[in-house]
Amino acid sequence: MIDEEVFDRIYPYREKKEKSEEDRKTYGDVFDRRTLLAFYKLLKRTIDYVEFPISTGKEATVFRAVNKDGELIAVKVYLITRLNYKGLSRFIDGDDRFAHVHKTKDNIIFIWAKKEFRNLQAYHDAGVRVPAPVDMWKNIIVMEYVGDESQPAPLLKDCMEKVKKEIIYAIVEEMRKMHKAKLVHGDLSEYNILVWNDEPWVIDVGQAVPTTHPMAAALLSRDVRNIAALARKMGVAMDEKCIMAELGVD
Ligand SMILES: Nc1ncnc2c1ncn2[C@@H]1O[C@H](COP(=O)(O)OP(=O)(O)OP(=O)(O)O)[C@@H](O)[C@H]1O
Ligand SMILES: [Mg+2]
Repeated sequence: MIDEEVFDRIYPYREKKEKSEEDRKTYGDVFDRRTLLAFYKLLKRTIDYVEFPISTGKEATVFRAVNKDGELIAVKVYLITRLNYKGLSRFIDGDDRFAHVHKTKDNIIFIWAKKEFRNLQAYHDAGVRVPAPVDMWKNIIVMEYVGDESQPAPLLKDCMEKVKKEIIYAIVEEMRKMHKAKLVHGDLSEYNILVWNDEPWVIDVGQAVPTTHPMAAALLSRDVRNIAALARKMGVAMDEKCIMAELGVD
């Protein structure tokens, strides 16, 4: 039996009478039956209640929520309705950690969420500044929230004028730690770096692959290219060769 009281803690506007067309669409896209059941599990053990969406993207929605100790957390929900099997499987095939996992159209999103959680754990253990992983179930990941009561940390791309250009060195330092952890981020740019207290936080690590993956070298050079372009934009002399040398790659 599903306990209605638990479901009421998912998303306040579920209860709102006057739902806008937009609200209804977001709600329907995110909360299909399987996702509701997955939430149910997490509401019993980790999440106290969900506050509001921080970001509604193509493939995932990120919510601000509160844990059982009353602290803010971030909850990333992969949208089952927006599943892109081909797009995801390229990053799972060739990853030895998932070599023995049976992959189907039906479960790939859960494997993806598991992969993102494992990547977060590995980076976090290696001292990379990523949101600490907290819990996960099915297509839902719970992690540390970056920001404060009044606002989530902005993306680097949205605070480029305000941020000190020295942040580039801090980003390269995070890249060095990621490389040492033998996991290539694969989508590193100002779109996946949050800035809080002048420090960079690396997010969105679902696509990160071990350095042994067939696409690892190509993904690494793209990450390096992106960050070199960012350095150029910010007026810092740090080209691709320089970054590669910092990572110990020649
Ligand atoms: N731990 C966090 N704390 C605060 N804000 C976060 C956190 N994680 C994600 N966000 C916010 O949510 C946004 C989307 O997160 P993320 O980059 O992980 O998802 P995404 O895969 O890019 O989603 P999509 O590609 O579908 O837009 C981020 O740009 C950031 O603004
Ligand atoms: Mg992103």
